[in-house]
Amino acid sequence: MKFLIINGPNLNMLGIREPHIYGAQNYEALLGVIDSACHEAGVEYETFQSNHEGAIVDKIQEAYGKIDGIVINPAAYTHTSVAILDALKTVSIPTFEVHISDISTREAFRQHSFVSYVAVETIAGLGFEGYRQAILKLKKHLESK
Ligand code: DQA
Repeated sequence: MKFLIINGPNLNMLGIREPHIYGAQNYEALLGVIDSACHEAGVEYETFQSNHEGAIVDKIQEAYGKIDGIVINPAAYTHTSVAILDALKTVSIPTFEVHISDISTREAFRQHSFVSYVAVETIAGLGFEGYRQAILKLKKHLESK
């Protein structure tokens, strides 16, 4: 079983960007959490981070036929990208959505997510732990199918 973990724009700047919201740990530390969660789940995985909407769309399309499950934090594209939603609909790969912060209690423009239309579940506000939970829940979800 192979997972694709996608992180959108500015998540490569974790640790520097708004640490009062996203924490002091950097993207490398997040990759460490993802690595240990995938080991715990017993799944192979690939990570991808991009600041470009089209690159994320390309990566989702490339996953077709190769990837069993997706965990995505689309970052700012969460709130704007019909293209990422359509790519996820196109490949029909079970997807969990993650946000480090609790988007439901932040600015009004962050409270709508296009990806939520296809996500099996959205996990928000748990910091990096949200990725671990998403990976373990995705594994269970796929096993139950
Ligand atoms: C985020 C929340 C988004 O609103 C924001 O644009 C991000 C990160 C989060 O992980 O909390 O870049 O997805």
